Amino acid sequence: MTVLVTGGAGYIGSHTTLLLLENGYDVVVYDNLSNASRESIRQVEKLAKRPVAFVKGDIRDKATLAATFEKYSIEAVIHFAGLKAVGESVESPLSYYENNVCGTVALCETMASYGCKSMVFSSSATVYGDPQELPITEKAPLQATNPYGRTKLMIEEILRDVWYSDKEWKVMLLRYFNPVGAHESGDIGEDPDGIPNNLMPYIAQTAIGKRAFLSIFGNDYDTRDGTGVRDYIHVMDLAHGHLKALEKLSEIEEVTAVNLGTGKGYSVLEVVAAFEKASGRRIPYKFAPRRQGDIAACYADVSFAKRFLEWEAERDIDAMCTDMWRWQSKHPDGYQHKEET
Ligand code: NAD
Ligand code: UD1
Repeated sequence: MTVLVTGGAGYIGSHTTLLLLENGYDVVVYDNLSNASRESIRQVEKLAKRPVAFVKGDIRDKATLAATFEKYSIEAVIHFAGLKAVGESVESPLSYYENNVCGTVALCETMASYGCKSMVFSSSATVYGDPQELPITEKAPLQATNPYGRTKLMIEEILRDVWYSDKEWKVMLLRYFNPVGAHESGDIGEDPDGIPNNLMPYIAQTAIGKRAFLSIFGNDYDTRDGTGVRDYIHVMDLAHGHLKALEKLSEIEEVTAVNLGTGKGYSVLEVVAAFEKASGRRIPYKFAPRRQGDIAACYADVSFAKRFLEWEAERDIDAMCTDMWRWQSKHPDGYQHKEET
């Protein structure tokens, strides 16, 4: 089976591509390299010991998409491509709507015209906004608090409408909690551009000495130790969830949303302690004011994923930190070859 992986050169896409290759799928990676390097795919090929078809293309570019569907017999799409920085989306909302929403529309139109109607979509726990109840089930009210989150909500709605108009569509919405860590080889991982916004890459860069200290955004939340609590999930467990989703796709009867998390929440201070243990380095930190838009706590109810996908995360916070540290120490500057070919 040939799977088109949009955004497959990126963080979660590259790990999922590797797992797909290892499980006998043929993969076509489709990525405009706006936030990734071709090198990630070279590393994936090395690890999988198999070549990967790569198309440098934009999901908004229907001509290149059509040429890709002409060339390969694509049966399903895992759709990772999108912009994902919350702060940037507040400053530049139109580019988020254009890229994420218009891009998804162009992708769906092309898929439909080639009779490919199976999609696994990268949604996010951000669609739950500030949750009223914990753990969060898939039935919790949906709410966006920034343009990035709104693109995810809009795309979920668009995909539901598409299915409603044509029940041959099979769509799964995977709502990721906080993906972290790296492949256990330490040869693929997250390669943020500039100063990381997210906690784990910031901690890793502090451990390696690229950042002087971590600012902990708020120590007065109503949580165990006052710092924010999140459901961190190892990126390889997440990748595995996509494999399970692909396997189940043909069986579903309506657009189905699934939480991908571990069901456990860790505070910022607990993550710092786990990273110190994994790396043997001290992580200097200072408490700072709360970050605008942050919530106190967020973790998943994973019972539906267990029942429906027959999947659950296997790696704990220590494995997440150990693998993150291996990637960070083997590749302190991320992927070396950033050329866009
Ligand atoms: P990433 O930035 O590493 O990967 C996204 C990839 O999409 C990049 O390789 C980028 O070059 C590509 N891309 C962006 N716009 C494109 C376009 N118009 N055409 C073609 N390619 C395009 O991000 P990631 O962390 O791997 O996230 C993958 C998906 O998962 C995104 O949709 C993101 O919103 C979603 N998600 C991520 C997280 C997270 O914490 N990483 C959490 C929830 C959801
Ligand atoms: C952020 C995004 C969310 C996105 C998710 C995964 C915001 C407001 N939310 O979520 O939409 O889906 O990333 O990409 O940006 N923290 C610090 N210091 C730091 C960085 C983070 O203390 O330097 C704290 C945060 O306050 C939070 C926790 O660490 O309590 C996790 O933060 P982060 O990794 O940015 O993820 P989220 O805020 O959950």
